[in-house]
Amino acid sequence: MADLSIDMCGIKSPNPFWLASAPPANSGEQVMRAFDAGWGGVVWKTLGAQVTNVSSRFGALDYAGTKVVGFTNIELISDRPLEVNLKEIYEVKKAYPDRAMVVSLMVETREEWREIIKQVEDAGADGVELNFGCPHGMCERGMGSSVGQEPEVLARITGWAKEFAKTPVLVKLTPNIGDILEPGLAAVKGGADGLSLINTIKSIIGVDLERMALLPRVENYGTNGGYCGPAVKPIALHMVAALARDKGINIPISGIGGISDWRDAAEFIALGSQSVQVCTAVMHHGYRIVEDMIEGLSDYLDDQGLTSVNQLVGRAVPGFREWGELDLNYKIVANIDAEKCIGCNLCYIACMDGAHQCIHTHKGPCQAWHGEPDHGMNARYEVKPAQLHEPREGLRDHVPRVDEAECIGCNLCELVCPVPDCITMREVRGDAAAESWNERVDKDRYGVIH
Ligand SMILES: Cc1cc2nc3c(=O)[nH]c(=O)nc-3n(C[C@H](O)[C@H](O)[C@H](O)COP(=O)(O)O)c2cc1C
Ligand code: SF4
Ligand code: SF4
Repeated sequence: MADLSIDMCGIKSPNPFWLASAPPANSGEQVMRAFDAGWGGVVWKTLGAQVTNVSSRFGALDYAGTKVVGFTNIELISDRPLEVNLKEIYEVKKAYPDRAMVVSLMVETREEWREIIKQVEDAGADGVELNFGCPHGMCERGMGSSVGQEPEVLARITGWAKEFAKTPVLVKLTPNIGDILEPGLAAVKGGADGLSLINTIKSIIGVDLERMALLPRVENYGTNGGYCGPAVKPIALHMVAALARDKGINIPISGIGGISDWRDAAEFIALGSQSVQVCTAVMHHGYRIVEDMIEGLSDYLDDQGLTSVNQLVGRAVPGFREWGELDLNYKIVANIDAEKCIGCNLCYIACMDGAHQCIHTHKGPCQAWHGEPDHGMNARYEVKPAQLHEPREGLRDHVPRVDEAECIGCNLCELVCPVPDCITMREVRGDAAAESWNERVDKDRYGVIH
């Protein structure tokens, strides 16, 4: 079985799965239950000055019958007394010495940073995470994302933390910024030992149309919240990868954002994360999801012939190319498996209205859509004759046909087809040699005729 243990800038953990700084990491009793379930580490809910929270404070985006595709919150940092948190951190670390105990911090002045770092290290923290990411409540007070959006301030405060800390310092970045490299490089400049990202995305999850109030609603008012959960994963992956492939980022990354299962985690690791952190999926399904995460990642590593999770870190990073470096002559076309097709015509509609009008049914478009005779629509919109023609020999009536010569290989039809592996994309090898846009522009610039 592959070795899942990691050593992230000196913070050791039996596996790469950490609870993110959030409600599941709010108290000693919770964290101990999480460790019993198998979590390798925790980033304790952010500690700082005493705050008061509002209710309600959470909101969710449900989509097409799926609950909590996205999640939002307007919660602040821990609202439990600092002394209570410190005592519990001490007890948890004593009871679970092999787990990673990172404590998230957010205070304002240099003296406050000195004081709180000493307190959490005395309580047994293996490392600290500087919360420069919270996009609501704390940023208006000059903390959280207002620091994360100012690279110079971020570097200065990171420098303070490095001056005071004996343990590794992770910097947690906000995604609410144009170019994630700026705060990432600023953290490196400030001396950070590692980076964590992403924190939540500034958002409004919805509007109560009866009350005309923003959600989540505090009486009749709402405010910007922080968006997270499965829907933010692509944004988080992009930001992690952008840092991982930059030569200036020479410190490890803890990936966060929409991780719900081992596959999500493996993707973050393959794009450069050494550890991964989870919040929304635990809030939705509980601590026990880590059991499947450990088993799934372990099996995957074995299947790939990898003996340690560390061998997966960054493995997909070289797979990134700027758009201008992609091969313009690589071509694929859609292929429909007639045996699997149920004749729902979703591919036809998608290609007709959203792609290249090259999937054809055996009826006209009007009939295919409504199951009624054509009312002249085909004539009105000058539908190409091929779209009205007879089924190709050997294909059953309900199976649409792809005109391969017209197919641009966008794979929209494959994405919308409800039957697994019914539409696959087939590579078509042409005679043309590989050529990227950049190469083409260079040839033009230097006068080469092609
Ligand atoms: C209710 C809630 C409270 C959070 N509180 C904190 C916090 O105190 N400190 C912090 O750094 N991040 C906080 N976060 C952000 C999470 O740690 C994490 O970065 C974010 O939710 C993305 O991960 P996810 O998609 O797995 O939820 C909070 C998130 C939620 C949903
Ligand atoms: S790949 Fe795109 S263009 Fe080709 S058939 Fe499918 S939807 Fe149409
Ligand atoms: S979407 Fe898939 S199942 Fe439906 S008609 Fe097209 S190929 Fe057949």
